[in-house]
Formats: sequence, structure tokens, C-alpha cells
Amino acid sequence: MRVSRRALIVGAGATALGLAAPLRHSFADSAIKEYRLAAKLAVANLTGEGHPDTTVWAYDGTVPGTELRIRHGDPLRIVVNNKLGEDTTVHWHGIRLPNPMDGVPGLTQRPIRPGKSFTYEFTPPDAGTFWYHPHADTLQQLGRGLAGAFIVEEREPVVVDRDLLWFVEDWRLDDSGRIAPGFGNRMEAGMSGRIGNTITINGRVLDRVAVKAGERVRLRVVNAALARIVGLRFEGHRPVVISHDGQPCEPYLSEGGRLVLGPAMRADLIIDMDGKPGQTYRVIDDFYRDLAYKLVDLAYGPERSTRDHPPSAPPGLPANPLPEPDLTAAERHEIVLQGGMMGGMGMMGGGMGMTSRGMIGGMPMMGDMGGAAWAMNGMSMTGDGQPEMKPLIALKRRQCCVLALRNETAWWHPMHLHGHSFRVISRNGRPNPRREWRDTVLVPPRETVEIAFVADNPGDWMFHCHVTDHQESGMMSIIRIA
Ligand code: C2O
Ligand code: CU
Repeated sequence: MRVSRRALIVGAGATALGLAAPLRHSFADSAIKEYRLAAKLAVANLTGEGHPDTTVWAYDGTVPGTELRIRHGDPLRIVVNNKLGEDTTVHWHGIRLPNPMDGVPGLTQRPIRPGKSFTYEFTPPDAGTFWYHPHADTLQQLGRGLAGAFIVEEREPVVVDRDLLWFVEDWRLDDSGRIAPGFGNRMEAGMSGRIGNTITINGRVLDRVAVKAGERVRLRVVNAALARIVGLRFEGHRPVVISHDGQPCEPYLSEGGRLVLGPAMRADLIIDMDGKPGQTYRVIDDFYRDLAYKLVDLAYGPERSTRDHPPSAPPGLPANPLPEPDLTAAERHEIVLQGGMMGGMGMMGGGMGMTSRGMIGGMPMMGDMGGAAWAMNGMSMTGDGQPEMKPLIALKRRQCCVLALRNETAWWHPMHLHGHSFRVISRNGRPNPRREWRDTVLVPPRETVEIAFVADNPGDWMFHCHVTDHQESGMMSIIRIA
């Protein structure tokens, strides 16, 4: 029941910002939950018995890293110890926390030097499915395994038989099981980014997940890949989406039963296991049309369902305390996503234009961006952040803001805003029929997505593409909230 002085200060600050959750118990009643995470080298078996082990970089030596799990409203302290040979930081992806806890080196904190520690303290204002990862040398650190799930449980969770997590990671391994070198390949950076060849669920290439006829499962899916977009199809099942990026939505059946998640995106699903005992049903990822593969099988045990009638429609999750943007009073900005190869040689198919000015690796690029592969409104911020970078947009505190994200490129971009969740209000001019909150929105090639949010959390916040190669080669910016 001890609450440190520092936690109280952070907690009090959060309350003053209107960020704290409406608590059913007071802050002082909560025991602060403390985790210690060491970022270090470790050996993991990703591909299963009889296959070679892989040297990874991992939090506490496991991939994914330690699952952080707290109850909504509980304050949290995480002491991160850097046992890598290079600087690191940790970003708590999707958590609306005070800016100094956001984990962006140079911008919100000094990098954690090798051998040093940093203590993060905050109280997540929202319940839901989040995750954490480094924000320094991100391509390599995330690509070598530094990532973990961060779950904030509702005080009154929806009733299900089991609460499952699929933490999906995409690795590029060579024949001997080593992580292939070549992070930051310039040609890849201008295309789809570093797509791997080995997909793990909770750190293992999984063949099957055992399920029981009649059970209702809450499945939290996290796409922790560097670059791979997944489009999951649950054969024989009708998953109901109850939350995007940790933020509850009106439960709905995903289009054609397919769940599309770009890098960093999450969804919570309710799946009623109404298949036949003894049968297996495939979960297919067919996002890249010609490269569909079986992710895993849902394998039913022999026992019959103990439920005599199907459960009623899945209930929605309790709302999180999000500030509702007033669209009539909103300030509008257009953000144009620019750059990249003209056409996808690789996965997406399509032709290549030869009319562009820039060249990367002999491939035609759009525009001239002084060595960067990507830009937003003509500005390219590369690497993991530069403190002297001028903000793309400056907003007044509590200003309502609509951002029109216009993708002029031939590639998909999962755009992530730090420190806020936003509503997706339209796609290509058509209003979104659903109330949909996210922290990362996938913008398809040549399409426009409008998002809206209240700039209620002061600080300099990263706004970037979560295809890590895109971020590091220019598709990154700062939104300043004064
Ligand atoms: Cu997962 Cu800058 O973020
Ligand atoms: Cu991108």
C-alpha cells in the first residue's frame, strides 16, 4: 500500500490534466505496481523444438517481454535497466500519459545509456490492450525482439470463458535461425519496409491453439511487426470486434470476417467457438494476396459444448474517459504523406513510374527529399527523433483538431500519434459509420483518412508512420501542444 512521493507527484499532475480515470477508489488506496525490465541479449527458440535457437534482444530475456498487466486506475512504476550495448528508451504505445514518460529520446527524455536505468511512473487513464517497445534505434531494437504486451484490465471486465493474447511478431531469420542483418536497407525503406519470413504468436511459431466447443473467448491481437500488415481470416468463425487500439467500440462483425492490422495496431475480439468438436479451423493471413499463409489452427478438443444454447450477443466494453472532439469548432490541417517508390515491385504488385526525380538504389522515387525516402508536407524527420526539429503543427491546449491524412504514395502507412487517441471520422470523404477510436490508423495508398482529437495533453508528441523503416527514413514529425 505504499505510494512513493514521486508517483504521487506524477499522479497529481495527471489528475490536474484531466487525464486520470474516474476511479471508484481513490488513488491513495491503490498499491503501486512495480515492474523491473532489463533490456538485454537472450536466446529464444522461436521456431520450435528441433529448430535452431535465435539470439534476440529482449526485455527480461523473453520474447515477447514480460506482460505488464494492471487494473484500470492502478498507478504503475517500471524501472528499465539498459543492458544493451547502445542507448535505449521505452515507449508505452497508446497510453495517454504525461509527456516526460513517453520514451522518445532527445524529445521527452535523455536516452538510457548502457548500464543505466530510467524509472517510468504513470497511471494509465484507459483500460485496454496496449504494448511497449523501444524508441531508440527502433528498427534494430524492435526487429531483434524488444517488445511486450501491456494490458490494463477493466474494473468490470466483459464475461468470457478465456482471455487470450496473440502477440504477433515478424522476424527475418536466415537458415541457421539467426536474425538476418541488413536493418535499414535503403531500397526496402522506400517500399514496404523490412517484412520478415517467420511469424510468431507469443514468441513461437504456433501450429495450433486448443479451443473448446461452446466457449466464448476474448482474443487480444497485437501486431508488433516492424512492417508486416496482417489480414486475419478466422475460417468458420465470426469474430466480433469490441475494441481498436485499446479503445472500446460498438461491437461489430469485421468486414468479411477479416481483421486488418497494420504494425502497432491492436484489436480485441470476442470469438464464440461454435465449430465442431475434434475439428480444426485455419486462421489465414491473406493481406498480401499472393502470399497468403496459415497463421495457426484453432483446434477443437473432442468434448461437446456444455452450453445448450449459444450465448447472447457479445457485450460492449465500458467506455474510457476520452475527451470528445467538437467537430464544429475544430481546427483543420491537411497532412500529405509523400515519397517512396512509385510502384510496388515487391509485395503489392503494380507498375513502376520512370518520371520521378530522386533515385534510391536505382529505383525511382517520388520527389526530391534530400536523401530521405519519405516526407509529411515536405518535411522529413529521420532516425529516432531530432529535438531541434520544428513541429509540423502547433496546437493550443484543448483545441479540437481534424487532421486529413492524404496518402499520395503507393504504399500503406499506419500513422500513429503519441499521447492521444483520436476518432477516425471519415475515409475518402465518406463519414465513418462507426464511432472508432484509435491511436494508429492505416492509410491505404492514394486514400485520405480524417481523424479528430482534442489536444488535451501538453507536450511535443511524435506523429509518425509505424512501418519502422518509413519512420526512420522520413515519415515522422512532431505535433506540439502548448
Ligand atoms: Cu509505437 Cu512512436 O511508437
Ligand atoms: Cu509508412
